[in-house]
Amino acid sequence: MTTPRANYLYPALGLTLIMASIIFVVVLVPRWTFRPPEPRDLRDYTAQELRGREIYKREGCWYCHSMVSRPQDWDHGRRSRSSDYFYDAYHLLGSERSGPDLANIGGKFPDQYHMLHHKNPRYVKPGSIMPRYDYLPEQDLTDLTAYLQSLGPYGTRALDVEGGKDRYAATGETRWAYVRDYTWVGGPLDGVTEKVAFWKLDVAHQRALNEQLYGEHPEVPFKYSAEIEELMYGSSHEAANAKGALQGLATPVFPNKEALEEARLKDPEARAWTENSFREGQITDKNRLLANYGKGLFNNQCAPCHGVTGNGKGQAAFSMTKRPANFTEDKYAGFTVDAWYWRISRGVPGTQMPRWEYTLDANQRLTLAAFLRYVAQNKGLGKLEGVPADYGKAPAPPETTHPGAK
Ligand code: HEC
Ligand code: HEC
Repeated sequence: MTTPRANYLYPALGLTLIMASIIFVVVLVPRWTFRPPEPRDLRDYTAQELRGREIYKREGCWYCHSMVSRPQDWDHGRRSRSSDYFYDAYHLLGSERSGPDLANIGGKFPDQYHMLHHKNPRYVKPGSIMPRYDYLPEQDLTDLTAYLQSLGPYGTRALDVEGGKDRYAATGETRWAYVRDYTWVGGPLDGVTEKVAFWKLDVAHQRALNEQLYGEHPEVPFKYSAEIEELMYGSSHEAANAKGALQGLATPVFPNKEALEEARLKDPEARAWTENSFREGQITDKNRLLANYGKGLFNNQCAPCHGVTGNGKGQAAFSMTKRPANFTEDKYAGFTVDAWYWRISRGVPGTQMPRWEYTLDANQRLTLAAFLRYVAQNKGLGKLEGVPADYGKAPAPPETTHPGAK
């Protein structure tokens, strides 16, 4: 007697059919029918940008970054259109957002930021979980940067709809978006003439960058170090960070009151800050010194968002939905030091304003509070040191200072 056997033939055929139709609908049909309109405001990639794109693919950046800004996204910039992909032979949309969407990343940061960020994301974003790519040759990192800078409406590939010209070449207004022809000589790109953005010129000077960045601000303790890495990853800070935003919403009490008191105790003058005026003419030399110290920190940590002068117009600001605060507004003149200190420590939940209590110590946050009080009461940088008189004016077209340039 034979036992009845299950017949797998039909289920197998059925499954294969289902699989095939899914592939047909999801892969083949779009492939045959997707013909995005040719964009009038976007140029093709340059050779360098294409190299960067290959590296982006090869290194698996797309495992963590998507490249499509959807209608329901906020803080990812302009929403993507099909024509944005006209020049993409294969797409790199990605399906996961462990990191931010990069469809509009071009022009958001200066090149230096990207180079440092690629080498070690913790250089510019303490606590970032993005892997470091410092094993890549300098040229690869440069190409990758060129590719990223080419994306989106502020990227180097953006064209003026009217004249078909590079979008920013005509105005040259924005510091981070000045496009010009540039011939590389003597370097790895010898003889190649490319359109590069103003901010790209500096990429060649990368090796000197770290020293320059931190050399300019010797008072800034933020030289990225093993200790900081340990602080961010080897301790409860990590857990605290994850819960940060929620705690910020839920805890009404003053954070770190003890730390603030301790920082103030060391400094009798700081104790009386809330009463003291920081207006020019009334501010004491000591307080001016502290505000200056805070300014150094501010340049390094806060200026990318809040702008060097504290007016809220930093390089990174324009792509944010919730814009960074402008400290020269009237309402801030009355802020007490405590209020500044509290805000800086806690950040602003629901915005990109970080919680600085994790990365800056009490003294540093106190000097930042002094700086902001100065800016708020004097409506700008006033007579603090080290600000060139013409700061904020549109830059002249860049000189060809690159060592290899003709
Ligand atoms: C393990 C996931 C992961 C991988 C892989 C990864 N990233 Fe990231 N990336 C992140 C996270 C998380 C952030 C947000 C924190 C930060 O800015 O470092 C980020 C941020 C960024 C930013 C800044 C975006 C912004 O708007 O602030 C850029 C640019 C970027 N990544 C580029 C890359 C490139 C290029 C690669 C490949 C070489 C890459 N990432 C690979 C996780 C990743
Ligand atoms: C990633 C961008 C970013 C960085 C970096 C940043 N901020 Fe902010 N900041 C914001 C945003 C966004 C807001 C929210 C503005 C609002 O709520 O109106 C904000 C708000 C603030 C406020 C609150 C203003 C208010 O109305 O209460 C203070 C104070 C402040 N920032 C100080 C700083 C200081 C000091 C630093 C540097 C140590 C810094 N920020 C760095 C983005 C940033």
